[in-house]
Amino acid sequence: TITPIIMAGGSGTRLWPLSRGNYPKQFLTLSGEQTMLQNTITRLNGLEHSPAMLICNEEHRFIAAEQIRQLGVNHSGIFLEPVGRNTAPAIALAAFKATEQGQDPLLLVLAADHVIDDISAFQQSVAKAAELAAQDKLVTFGIVGNKPETGYGYIKRGQQFQSGFVVDSFVEKPDLATAQQYIQSGDYYWNSGMFLFKASRYLTELKAFRPDIYAACEAAMRVQNNDLDFIRVDKAAFEACPDESIDYAVMEQTQDAVVVPMDAGWSDVGGFAALWDVSEKDNNGNVFKGDVKAVDTKNTLVFGEDKLVATVGVENLVIVNTKDAVLVAHKDHSQHVKTIVNQLKSEQ
Ligand code: GDD
Ligand code: MG
Repeated sequence: TITPIIMAGGSGTRLWPLSRGNYPKQFLTLSGEQTMLQNTITRLNGLEHSPAMLICNEEHRFIAAEQIRQLGVNHSGIFLEPVGRNTAPAIALAAFKATEQGQDPLLLVLAADHVIDDISAFQQSVAKAAELAAQDKLVTFGIVGNKPETGYGYIKRGQQFQSGFVVDSFVEKPDLATAQQYIQSGDYYWNSGMFLFKASRYLTELKAFRPDIYAACEAAMRVQNNDLDFIRVDKAAFEACPDESIDYAVMEQTQDAVVVPMDAGWSDVGGFAALWDVSEKDNNGNVFKGDVKAVDTKNTLVFGEDKLVATVGVENLVIVNTKDAVLVAHKDHSQHVKTIVNQLKSEQ
């Protein structure tokens, strides 16, 4: 069976001031009625699977638990990390847990902060991937990319392998020139950041390539403290774990990866420009949320959480008004919001 593992420990800094340290992106309602985390769980409806496991930071336990409770779905526990050590350790904890009683389920590793338009296309790709993962492959989901985005992993498509392709190489976050080459060649997919593999297969590869991470997570799992739905691991052992993503730790190294293409209107909403892209717009290309009055305004995104926001004669802006911070940015520069967040952090 498939056990979904939902990773919800990121910080989403490029959507500041909507996304905050104590209330990051994955817990926000950015499009539609549900939060991104809730959409991630709802997207599984109709797919045969065991109850999902969530992994997030200790600090967000009540937000996560409440959002799952609202959905009224079963889950198989919420892992709480005392500190973020990125995705390779997070997935390792889930894989150790899943194999505790001698079982070896397929883990469907999902990011809690993606938008996917076409749920049936997503589920079809997962079904194909499950057949490959059952044969001990580590499956990635490939998105046909259209711009040299440097924040993504790039997957070089090799020979056809059943319903997917052998991964010839996996390169995480290349520099711009390399990304441009990859996009031009047409031989590469973007890595969607979702994976499917047997729990044991992930652990074997992690042990081979990053025995340090494997050992730290194994040690952390030796002392478990279960309280309500929450699962806590040994704090000191987990803090001693190196910080690394699955992409660098395992996917760049393994010889056994395959890619299943996914054409499902995927976006990781990596910034306000992407948020504007995936949102429903009015006739002038505007996306307004909250109390907004606009005159001669085009292609602009306004989130007015707190008070009335009025715009006159502007285009291509991002305006976010929250209780304690206001952002005004050009839509084409909204990636650099991260720089502000870093400055604020360094001033603390
Ligand atoms: N539990 C937990 N703990 N979750 C985490 C942690 C952690 O320490 N760090 C990140 N996550 C979660 C995030 O919330 C997100 O849902 C997911 O794991 C991926 O982390 P990101 O930090 O958003 O990764 P990325 O965007 O830089 O890169 C990944 O995603 C790209 C596509 O969006 C990579 O897999 C790339 O190869 C991929 O192209
Ligand atoms: Mg991301």
